[in-house]
Amino acid sequence: MEMTVSVNDNINGTLILPIVEGTESIPEDCERGLPQSMKAQINKVLSDGDFKAKSKTTLSLVGGEDGNIILSGLGKGDGITVHDYRKAGAAVFASIKKIHGNDFTVRFIEAGVAHMAAFAEGMMLRDYSYDHYKMKDEDGEDDLPKQIRLACSEKEAGELTSLVEKYRGIAKGVHLSRDLGNCPPNDMYPEEFADRAWEWAKQYDNVEVTIINYDQAIKAGMGGLVAVGKGSSRKPCMVIFEMNKDVKGKCPVLVGKGITFDTGGISLKPGANMDEMKYDMGGSATVFGTMEALAQTGHKGKVVAITCMAENMPAANATRPGDVIKGLSGKTIEILNTDAEGRLVLSDGLWKAGEFNPEYIVDFATLTGACVVALGHEATGLWSNNDEFRGRIHDAGNAVDELAWPMPLLPAFEKEMTDSKIADTRNLGAGRWGGANTAAAFLKQFVPNVDYEKDGEQITWAHMDIAGTYWGAKTNNMVKNGATGVHVRTMHHLITQG
Ligand code: BES
Ligand code: ZN
Ligand code: ZN
Repeated sequence: MEMTVSVNDNINGTLILPIVEGTESIPEDCERGLPQSMKAQINKVLSDGDFKAKSKTTLSLVGGEDGNIILSGLGKGDGITVHDYRKAGAAVFASIKKIHGNDFTVRFIEAGVAHMAAFAEGMMLRDYSYDHYKMKDEDGEDDLPKQIRLACSEKEAGELTSLVEKYRGIAKGVHLSRDLGNCPPNDMYPEEFADRAWEWAKQYDNVEVTIINYDQAIKAGMGGLVAVGKGSSRKPCMVIFEMNKDVKGKCPVLVGKGITFDTGGISLKPGANMDEMKYDMGGSATVFGTMEALAQTGHKGKVVAITCMAENMPAANATRPGDVIKGLSGKTIEILNTDAEGRLVLSDGLWKAGEFNPEYIVDFATLTGACVVALGHEATGLWSNNDEFRGRIHDAGNAVDELAWPMPLLPAFEKEMTDSKIADTRNLGAGRWGGANTAAAFLKQFVPNVDYEKDGEQITWAHMDIAGTYWGAKTNNMVKNGATGVHVRTMHHLITQG
């Protein structure tokens, strides 16, 4: 898609007209450039009540003498937000058919610049399909990029152009996260993820990628990462992204769970829907996508991302339930279920994060089925050791319409995860209840104190369980199917504006 801002009255190609519910005719001061017959056609449809402009609906009018039209519903007039505009933009993009051609002009009626930009953002986010493994259409038409013009006044053009530019960069990050997540697990394994990060970094001179390979991980004492990945012929690794490394001071550090396929290991999962466990690297995809969004939008601050990559396989040399391991932190872990593997790789990633002088640490993980039980596909579970910080993430999520819902980090859950008979911690709760909370409580044991001071204060940390939101989120209007790329936008907002 090529999106441009246009200050002339011409309508190129199909007209896209976002409309508020209850509108009976196009207001006169918005008629500029609309041919008489087109205006009459639209006003008739509106006054006859044939298009109610309900939120996320569209109506396509084709065959008119002055060209095709797509009417786009914004919903009820009072309190229409940028979120409504974003959803409408996505719905319009989803409704575009071949008959509309490749040229479009969006004309807004009395919308602010932020609202126009949100509509454009919705279109850009929805402009995604994962078709690398499909044969191309023979006529090649699918390959032609769509040209979208956003019509606005001269006064609005500058601000709208820069917002569209920003959202274009962020959408690239979201789409990168989705590409990584959608990639089948035979082609997406830890070293492939590392290669992609390595290749990606070459285009930016302010980003550096370091890969800690399997042998180095063993040497460094990354017992969690090694325990999970050693049973696979695709060996585990840790990939570290550093942006604007030379900037002094504290910085955000993001950590991702990157299980490129989760069979459960020796605690093998049941067969039904196991294919979905290719998305179990969604946390790593989120932080990689966030780095892309930040790089694309020219972020000047320092940011670090750590991805913990492994494939969880059953094998003769795989970790067993009952094994006790020791990771980077020096704490021992009794492994009671090899399917609770995300927390093991994250224990090393979180501990490693302490090396980068974090202002805060946020981890992303498709960590527990229990989180999906609690929140469905509607919200990410959010835990933090700092109430104010949890509030900031919640607010950043709300600002971009990606809900992150506060969940409790209770001492009782910590106790449950630290009362192993033979080790410092255990990777399984005492029972099945509160499984998302016990997982978060386990992770907290591996968040270092500031400067690794023994009796110091723990680094500000938040954990985001995206098991329900990284894929299968049917009500996410920005996505048709597959990986959602959720929280790239949240994190971009938090880091640049929050
Ligand atoms: N990757 C899964 C969590 C998951 C399950 C994500 C379903 C999305 C949908 C994770 O590694 C896992 O298997 N967790 C176990 C933990 C249990 C053994 C304590 C779970 O949730 O059942
Ligand atoms: Zn698992
Ligand atoms: Zn998993």
